[in-house]
Amino acid sequence: MAISEALRALVVSLRIDILTLFPEMFHSFLETSIPKRAADKGLVEYRLTNVRSFATDAHQSVDDKPFGGGPGMVMMCQTLFDAVEAVEKQDPRPARRILLSPQGQRFDQELAGSFSSAERLLLIAGRYEGFDQRISDGLKPEEVSIGDYVLSGGELAAMVMVDAVVRLLPGALGAETGAADESFADGLLEYPQYTRPREFRGMAVPPVLLSGDHKAIAQWRLEQRILRTRQCRWDLWKKYEDKNSTGPQ
Ligand code: 6GU
Repeated sequence: MAISEALRALVVSLRIDILTLFPEMFHSFLETSIPKRAADKGLVEYRLTNVRSFATDAHQSVDDKPFGGGPGMVMMCQTLFDAVEAVEKQDPRPARRILLSPQGQRFDQELAGSFSSAERLLLIAGRYEGFDQRISDGLKPEEVSIGDYVLSGGELAAMVMVDAVVRLLPGALGAETGAADESFADGLLEYPQYTRPREFRGMAVPPVLLSGDHKAIAQWRLEQRILRTRQCRWDLWKKYEDKNSTGPQ
């Protein structure tokens, strides 16, 4: 680790609290690959809290039937409010409260970037049919969704977000790689990559990549990124064009 990275870790490290009924779902994820390496380097610290430990009744209830009837169960206010308030008190840094919910703002690279510069994130993952509306009204969290489909709970969404955020922390990726030149960093998809062998089942590596001409390679890669983005993600291409155009001529 470079000295500057070590210093940064001493001064600013990101604390991520995760409130969940299934902390064990996070164990292998947090103990693997980049999320683990970032924690080992001191860039980030994960704290798992089981919301059920804040239940006060004999059955350790965290959910109940919806008023007005209907299927399923709803997460109750008391356990979640108590959990959020207790966890926030463990550290003086103010946390960005984030509620994982299919009705939230769509998570994207820009939001990941914004989260990665926070001092503290508090992710609330729910189960069941949903949260009592007063959790949202009272705790005023940012509500975030990872896409237009329904998951059985917020845990997988929380892991997706943690992964996307942590890899943006300076020093989280190896020295030779950086998040800066990845897909979406500038709004274009990645260029195609090749490794050995030079020919596989009749498919050859594009000759320019073997040319040793770094300028030509960079040019080819940019062209490929533009081609790919236009072909696969017209929506991203339009956004890129708008951002990079100088306005009406
Ligand atoms: Cl954040 N939670 C749940 N339960 N489903 C989702 C989601 C979140 N994002 C997309 N689908």
